[in-house]
Amino acid sequence: MSILTSENKRPTKRSAGRPLPELIFGDLWEFDPAPETADPKLKPRYDLFIGGRFVAPVSGKYFDSINPANETKLAEIAQANAADVDAAYAAAQKGFAVWSKLPGKERAKYIYRLARLLQDRAREFAVAETMDGGKPIKESRDFDVPMAAAHFFYHAGWADKLEYVAPGRKVAPLGVVGQVIPWNFPLLMMAWKLAPALAMGNTIVIKPAETTSVTALKFAEIVQDAGFPAGVVNIVTGFGDTGAAVLNHPAAVKVAFTGSTEVGKIIMRSLAGTDKKMTMELGGKAANIVFDDAPLDQAVEGIVNGIFFNQGHVCCAGSRLLVHEPVAAAVLAKLKTRIRTLRVGDPLDKNTDIGAINSREQLTRIEKLVASGVKEGADMFQPACKLPTKGYYFRPTVFSGVSMSHRIAREEIFGPVLSVLTFRTLDEAVEKANNTAYGLSAGVWTDKGSRILKMSTELKAGVVWANTYNKFDPTSPFGGYKESGFGREGGRQGLLDYCKLV
Ligand code: NAI
Ligand code: MG
Repeated sequence: MSILTSENKRPTKRSAGRPLPELIFGDLWEFDPAPETADPKLKPRYDLFIGGRFVAPVSGKYFDSINPANETKLAEIAQANAADVDAAYAAAQKGFAVWSKLPGKERAKYIYRLARLLQDRAREFAVAETMDGGKPIKESRDFDVPMAAAHFFYHAGWADKLEYVAPGRKVAPLGVVGQVIPWNFPLLMMAWKLAPALAMGNTIVIKPAETTSVTALKFAEIVQDAGFPAGVVNIVTGFGDTGAAVLNHPAAVKVAFTGSTEVGKIIMRSLAGTDKKMTMELGGKAANIVFDDAPLDQAVEGIVNGIFFNQGHVCCAGSRLLVHEPVAAAVLAKLKTRIRTLRVGDPLDKNTDIGAINSREQLTRIEKLVASGVKEGADMFQPACKLPTKGYYFRPTVFSGVSMSHRIAREEIFGPVLSVLTFRTLDEAVEKANNTAYGLSAGVWTDKGSRILKMSTELKAGVVWANTYNKFDPTSPFGGYKESGFGREGGRQGLLDYCKLV
C-alpha cells in the first residue's frame, strides 16, 4: 500500500524570501550498509524436541519458516499433531519424576548453565532471531538475547531459595505445564515461560508461534548441552491446532498463554470447568501520557521507543499518545522531526531502527486498521522513507486528530502506528487512559513526583512507567488488568503462578 502524504511531496526548490526548511538529518545522510554477518547456524529442517531428543513428527508434516525481510525460506519446521503432543506430555511426566525430586540447588546449576550457554552463543542467536522474525539486529543483540539470559540467571538464583516465595508457607511444583507463546519476542517469551517453571521444579511442553520457531529449536540444543534430564523441556511446533492440543491436554496441570485476547478467550472458554491453573498474558492498548511540564525532548524519545520498538509488535506498546493540550502542537512537531530520522529496512543492518513486519498476515492486519483510521477522518503522517522492494515493511505512522471512538484508538494494531489524542486535565487523562478493554501498561511523563504517584494509583494497568517506557527486568512482575489477562510473570509473584502452597 502506498499512501501519498505531504511528506512524500517534499519541495525540491527553495524560493527566495521563504524561511529555510528545517534541516533534517535523515534527508542529508545516507548510511553505508552495515550488515551483521555472523552465521546463525541453522539446520535446513527442525524436528520436534521430545524426551531430550529431536524426533520426527508422527504427522510426517513440515511447514516453512520464512524470513519476513526478504520472503525467502529459512528452514522447515515439524508440524505436531495430537499424537506428537501426547508423546511430549508422556515425556514430561517422566521428566517430572526426576526433576521435581532434585534439590533446588541442583536445579539451579542446570538453569544457570542455560544462561551461560545462551551467552556463549549470543551473536548466533541474535542473527537467527532477526532472520526468523524480522526485528532489527540491534534489538535482538542488545535486548532479546541478553534479557532471555537474564531471566535464566535470575531464576537460577531462586531455585534454592524457594522457601522465600511464600514466606511462612511451603511451596511445591505443580507438575507438567503447557505453554503457548507468540511471535513478537520468540526467545525472550520462551525464557519468561521456562525459567520460573523450571526453578519451581515443573516440567514443560511448550509451543512457539508458527512464524518464529527457529530460536526455540536452537534453544533445544542448549537444553541438550546443559545435560538436562530427559523430558524436562519438550518443544512441539505447529499452528493454532497444535497450540490448542497443548493447552487442552489432560496431563497439563497448568497452562500459560501469551498472545491475542481473541485466542485467550477461546482458551479460557475451553478450559472453564477444568481445574487447570491458568496464566494469560494478552493484548494491550497502552496510554503514554505527556504532561505540559515534562522534558519534551526526552518524552519524544520515550514515545518513539514506546511505539516503534520491535515494529510496534509489543503487547505493552505505548500505542495511544495522550498529550496535554498546551504542549500538543510542540510535541507533534518534534515527533515528526524525529520520525523522519528513523531508518526502516534490512533487519540485519546494524543501523536499522525499524525492521520487517513479522508476517504477511500481520502486515495486512496493520494496513486494514490504518485504512480505517484514514477513513474515519484522522490525520495521517508518514515519513517519505524508502522501503525495500521484497519483504514485509510498513512506514512508521502517526495519526493525530484521533478521537476515542476511532478503531485506531480502541483496537490493538500491533504495528508501528501511533494514535495521538489530547487532554486538558489530569482527570481527563485518567478517564481516557482507562477507557479501554485492556490494562497492561501505561507511561507518564511529568516533572512532578506527586503527579507520578497519583497517576500510578489511578491508572488501571499492570505496569506504569514514569519518564521512561518499555523498561524490563526479570525481578519485576509483569501482567495485565481486564482483557489484558491475569497472572504475573517475573519476580517473586511470577513464581507463585508456578507452584502450589502446601
Ligand atoms: P495468536 O494469538 O493467534 O497467536 C499466538 C500463539 O497462539 C501462537 O503460538 C499460535 O499458534 C497460538 N494459537 C492460535 N490459536 C490457538 C488456539 N486456539 N489455542 C491455542 N493456541 C493457539 O496471534 P496472531 O494471530 O499471531 O496475531 C493476531 C493479533 O494478536 C495481532 O495482530 C496482535 O494484535 C495480537 N497479538 C498480541 C500478542 C501479545 O503479546 N499481546 C502476541 C501476538 C499477537
Ligand atoms: Mg519466520
